[in-house]
Amino acid sequence: MRAIEIRNKYLNFFKAHGHSVIPSAPLIPENDPSVLFTTAGMQPLVPYLLGQAHPAGTRLTDYQKCVRTNDIDEVGDNRHLTYFEMLGNWSLGDYFKEESIKMSFEFLTKELGIPVEKLSVTVFAGDEDCPRDEVAASCWKKAGILDGHIYYYGKDDNWWIAGETGPCGPDTEMFYDTGKPACSPECQPSCDCGKYVEIWNNVFMEYFKDEKGYSKLKQQNVDTGLGLERMTMLLQGKETPFDTEIFKPIMDKLVELQKVDIIESRRIIAEHLRSSMMIISDGGRPSNLDRGYVLRRLIRRMIRHMNKLQINLDEISTLVELNVDNLKELYPELEKNRETIKIVIVEEKDKFVKTLSNGEKEFNKEVNKLKNQGKNIIDGKMVFRLYDTYGFPPEVTKDLAEEADMQISMEEFDKLFKEHQEKSRAGATQKFKGGLASTGEMETKYHTATHLLNAALKQVLGSHVHQRGSNITEERMRFDFSHDSKMTEEQKKQTEDLVNQWINEAIPVQRLEMKKDEAIAIGAEAMFIEKYGENVTVYKIGDKSIELCGGPHVSNTKELGHFKIKKEEASSSGVRRIKAILD
Ligand code: SER
Repeated sequence: MRAIEIRNKYLNFFKAHGHSVIPSAPLIPENDPSVLFTTAGMQPLVPYLLGQAHPAGTRLTDYQKCVRTNDIDEVGDNRHLTYFEMLGNWSLGDYFKEESIKMSFEFLTKELGIPVEKLSVTVFAGDEDCPRDEVAASCWKKAGILDGHIYYYGKDDNWWIAGETGPCGPDTEMFYDTGKPACSPECQPSCDCGKYVEIWNNVFMEYFKDEKGYSKLKQQNVDTGLGLERMTMLLQGKETPFDTEIFKPIMDKLVELQKVDIIESRRIIAEHLRSSMMIISDGGRPSNLDRGYVLRRLIRRMIRHMNKLQINLDEISTLVELNVDNLKELYPELEKNRETIKIVIVEEKDKFVKTLSNGEKEFNKEVNKLKNQGKNIIDGKMVFRLYDTYGFPPEVTKDLAEEADMQISMEEFDKLFKEHQEKSRAGATQKFKGGLASTGEMETKYHTATHLLNAALKQVLGSHVHQRGSNITEERMRFDFSHDSKMTEEQKKQTEDLVNQWINEAIPVQRLEMKKDEAIAIGAEAMFIEKYGENVTVYKIGDKSIELCGGPHVSNTKELGHFKIKKEEASSSGVRRIKAILD
């Protein structure tokens, strides 16, 4: 079965069981600077898991584009991916364990045709926070899981939470037995020898964890996630996702282009190319910060491995074209953004080629100095400085050192690099945590102020103004919009005054639910109209503003206080950026 067939079967199955099919949220979370990328299907649904009504109802299903970069350095082995697709179904206070387990079992055995002998499941063993999940275990038995195929594990394996705080609960995981021999008599699903592969995770999300501990949520939810690439690989009896049709054409092309044969490098190129393309297609651009830096790393790592295989770097356009052709059935947006993707990747390649040549100059200078002093060892500090300041990869330094007949001491580099990595990893976790915990009071205010600013700019500058991006923290808001020229002082003042006037008018903020067509007909504004499903939530602020939006918002504009524009500047071609605060 091809990946697209598995996806369609999944969505159709859950649709037939009363679920609304909702679109994938973009990889780059909107209005949420605290999260780098969308990392799970539940992430865009957090407000609804916490109790807000979802316009599409209480049973939802979708495929969600996800990027997880914690394991970026593992890519190249036979399983790690940075981009993946998660199929999911949700109950928002609707069905719970029994129906969820029944549907999962039916989907796996009937729709996908997996023999029941190949399935094992794990359930939560229980602890002081939450009892042993005998309910889930008995539902599995009733559904048809074989005796001896149910395992009980503790929080480490069978408890799901995104980060440190947020909605969470015990989960039940389904495993596929690949038929490989057991590594030992004790081999179980929790063993990572490769015999058992986790295929699906159903979280029974009825708790909320904060700094103080666990409490019960308003409702009992189900949140499930099934990795498409892995399922495709297993059903096709392949050893790795790189052997499925998702990656095969690009892997074959690389074999054709390479002069050196290294399978890990081919996997890294194929994997990072797909991730980069998906991120760029959803609006990401390389930079030195956060999301942009992740994208930059992905592209540069891919290029380094093209160098390793001695593939002409100009072939990068061919690889992009081929990958768009191969993946556009799964992701039609790639076709739409074909040219942009190519331009962004080629530009970043050119920049990196320059970096490499600067790094090489610096390397030669240092090596000459050392040689003049009669030394033949490059220390780790220098390797790290080349890496950190010049973006010069240590593998390249090693190669050059060899050519220059120099030895290299990597020990110190490894230490410095580890420190650096821990710092950035801690940063990433921190971000993930923050994003899912909750939307605070200030962020909510800024969210509403964003709608007012959007409306005010339309009045002051003209109806060509549309939102192009937004970024909110507790301290300030940033708003990108389409407009060609610098705003005059007069225009800035008018905009500011208008927003403050509306705040003083104490206008109620209304939340409405309607059909998407209806929303468009009444002129509701939306940044990515295609991302919304058939039923939408619209926020209306008197006759000033009406926008498609998931919220949350304040209930009256008077709560906002006083609005002040701090800065107006160019963001990119045809796009201006305003930074503003509420005080
Ligand atoms: N949120 C859970 C996961 O990421 C189930 O979708 O595994």
